[in-house]
Amino acid sequence: MTLPNPMPLLEANPIVPVVVIEDVKDAVPTAQALLEGGISCAEVTFRTAAAPAALEAMAQVEGMTVGAGTVLNGEQARQAVDCGAQFIVSPGFHPSIVEDLTVPFLPGIANATDIMAVLEYGVETVKFFPAVPMGGLPVLNALAAPFPQLKFLPTGGIGPKNLAEWISHPKIVSVGGSWMVTKQMIAAGEFDAITELSRQALQMVQEAGK
Ligand code: 3PG
Repeated sequence: MTLPNPMPLLEANPIVPVVVIEDVKDAVPTAQALLEGGISCAEVTFRTAAAPAALEAMAQVEGMTVGAGTVLNGEQARQAVDCGAQFIVSPGFHPSIVEDLTVPFLPGIANATDIMAVLEYGVETVKFFPAVPMGGLPVLNALAAPFPQLKFLPTGGIGPKNLAEWISHPKIVSVGGSWMVTKQMIAAGEFDAITELSRQALQMVQEAGK
């Protein structure tokens, strides 16, 4: 079993917004707001009842690459792919997720044992989660040392104040986060704010040279 490589997707998308949709009517406007801000990729978290329909709606927005996040098992992974998910993200790892998976997978890791479990499946690009609460860049550096082949998508606690230092790191391909598309902004219909914060995030990435 060889899983598709997530690197081309991440290299094209230095920011991966973590999107929580409570009401499916907000899905397309959220995708459009991100696109207008220059972000053409998003992770729709499978934490709400609306998630599968939201993913399906966002996946149909032209120019948008949509994946599923918070995927906890193989059943959810299959449902997400059926809804149009082009990649799967999990806060951790469960072997059922990778069974017959046809899209790239980013498992969450927080320690060396987690990493060794996913290396068994040929996974070399991982989500470092929760990045800041786990100890931030010093911990990422310490984990990267014995596993030089790994590339990271850190998520959890990243925002405008620390984005530059995270995205500048040579082992980090992309960063994930919800700061440019919070639940509150979506619920309040603040789509202009989503566009503006997305623009600012991309500008910071460019200034950091990624
Ligand atoms: C999550 O799964 O909620 C993500 O890690 C987002 O984290 P953030 O809200 O701290 O960006």
